[in-house]
Amino acid sequence: MTSILAAIAAPSTTTTLVHRATSGKVPWWRTAVIYQVYPRSFADGDGDGIGDLRGITARLGHLTRLGVDAVWLSPFYRSPQHDAGYDVADYRDIDPVFGTLEDADALIAETHRLGLRLIVDLVPNHTSSAHPWFRAALEAAPSSPERARYIFRDGKGARGEQPPNDWTSVFGGSAWTRVTEADGTAGQWYLHLFDTTQPDLDWTNPEVRAEFESVLRFWLDRGVDGFRVDVSHGLVKAEGLPDWPGPSAMIEGAHEGILGSEDGSTGAGDTGPMWDQDGVHEIYREWHRVLAEYDGERALVAEAWVEPLTRLARYVRTDEMQQAFNFSFLTTVWSPSALRSVITESLAANDAVEATTTWVLSNHDMVRHPSRLGLKLPGGKPNGIGIGDPQPDEALGLYRGRAATLLMLGLPGSSYLYQGEELGLPEHTTLPDDERQDPTWWRSEYTHRGRDGCRVPVPWSAEAPAYGFSPTGTSWLSQPELFARYALDTQVCVPGSTYEMYRTALRLRREFRLGSGSLAWVDGLSERAPEDVVTFVNRDVLVVTNLGAQTVQLSGDLEVLLSSADLPFGQAGEHGVAVPTDVTVWVRTRN
Ligand code: NOJ
Ligand code: MG
Repeated sequence: MTSILAAIAAPSTTTTLVHRATSGKVPWWRTAVIYQVYPRSFADGDGDGIGDLRGITARLGHLTRLGVDAVWLSPFYRSPQHDAGYDVADYRDIDPVFGTLEDADALIAETHRLGLRLIVDLVPNHTSSAHPWFRAALEAAPSSPERARYIFRDGKGARGEQPPNDWTSVFGGSAWTRVTEADGTAGQWYLHLFDTTQPDLDWTNPEVRAEFESVLRFWLDRGVDGFRVDVSHGLVKAEGLPDWPGPSAMIEGAHEGILGSEDGSTGAGDTGPMWDQDGVHEIYREWHRVLAEYDGERALVAEAWVEPLTRLARYVRTDEMQQAFNFSFLTTVWSPSALRSVITESLAANDAVEATTTWVLSNHDMVRHPSRLGLKLPGGKPNGIGIGDPQPDEALGLYRGRAATLLMLGLPGSSYLYQGEELGLPEHTTLPDDERQDPTWWRSEYTHRGRDGCRVPVPWSAEAPAYGFSPTGTSWLSQPELFARYALDTQVCVPGSTYEMYRTALRLRREFRLGSGSLAWVDGLSERAPEDVVTFVNRDVLVVTNLGAQTVQLSGDLEVLLSSADLPFGQAGEHGVAVPTDVTVWVRTRN
């Protein structure tokens, strides 16, 4: 670190160390780059237009060439697919759309043969309404043990005609649905924080706990390296299910329009009596003990929309989960002060509990980050974009998206990539509304377009039918024509392509051990507008992201390791380096 700073030799430079490097061998998940595969949209092996496990196995070589450490698979379980598989009817079987248990075993084996780790999605907050438990609950009487696995309550009003409380579903509409009892009368209500077809389980019931422990063991025995735990902050509800007068939080893009603000508040947290109750931690302590019985550093990652970051860090205390998604980082707008704060706070909160910090810019619930960064408020958080909505600036978004990626991959900790981002893939922002499948679209009465735009199948080759996604050329969501320009085969071995930029970044990240590295903020590097530049040192690498309007000049005998865009005076760096607006560079001293 000292050498790189000495080399820059700006007299007014000061540094603030906020995170120390770790030495020695650390568990894989502390530093891993984890690639999210969304099975429906990655690769279709059987030609039905929906991605599947065989398709994934056949394409794993792409991930080793890219240089990631691990794969996270979104759900592949048996499911009516009302919420793209986040409505599970059988936790111990594969949906026929995706293949068979044998296909899953083959995928696990091939992943390990290639030296990759594999984590699978676990959906414990709710089952599908097609799950045998829920079917039995519908047939059983109020107060029966079958109903006690879910959250059934009598309604309010003289005839129980009003829902038990005023909670709303994350996807819009009421969080309660009334059932018809066996004798044909209007009956009790059940809680579903998501779609009607996703009844919430009652985690105070020991039977529910025992069942999920058994499900964990089922997949651990099959060899998975861990679980991404869906809605980790929702399993336990406040005693008595009190009304919630606050705004109804929507985890995937709350509050009308675009979120995010210059003051660094990110809007990444859910509040209310259904979220982040202290009781959830006892569950994760139990699961920690289950995983610890297995060899090979198995890990749990929390999907928890919890703020502030100190509260989120409670999920990754040493006896709970290993990682939590950092949605505060994902939802931060393109502002230097906001980025600096969220990075400092993330590292501080996780360091305090000895956890690793994770970073993420895109996933299957959010508008892809190049498209978010091409919006008028760069980095805002719209709940889907469709025909008639303000459209992002595609070129500017990609330019900034690449800078954001290099900023992220330069940080110490673990990073998540979402399939297609290594191609610079934008959101499909003009998907015809009649193709939409996300329940958000109709549950919000057609006000929130939802998440289909980031779930469009991946383009592998520009000339092939369905851009190589499916051998028959069919695709469950249509791909926009502009995907041809992003297809993998147009980028491989093309200097400066987004794919090659990601590959180089991952190689350098490993070479310079950035994952287990340090973070020291550097101030005063540029005299012009220091507050416009996010500058830090991680081990021997200086990372500079220029968010200001003017080019920033770095002096010294520097070597540019990687940059998100072409630099005005080339990459050589003998006479310093000029970093234009919306560009990230990784540099080190020439020696
Ligand atoms: C979070 C998942 O990421 C999202 O896709 C899903 O709809 C909800 N949880 C409900 O399971
Ligand atoms: Mg298929």
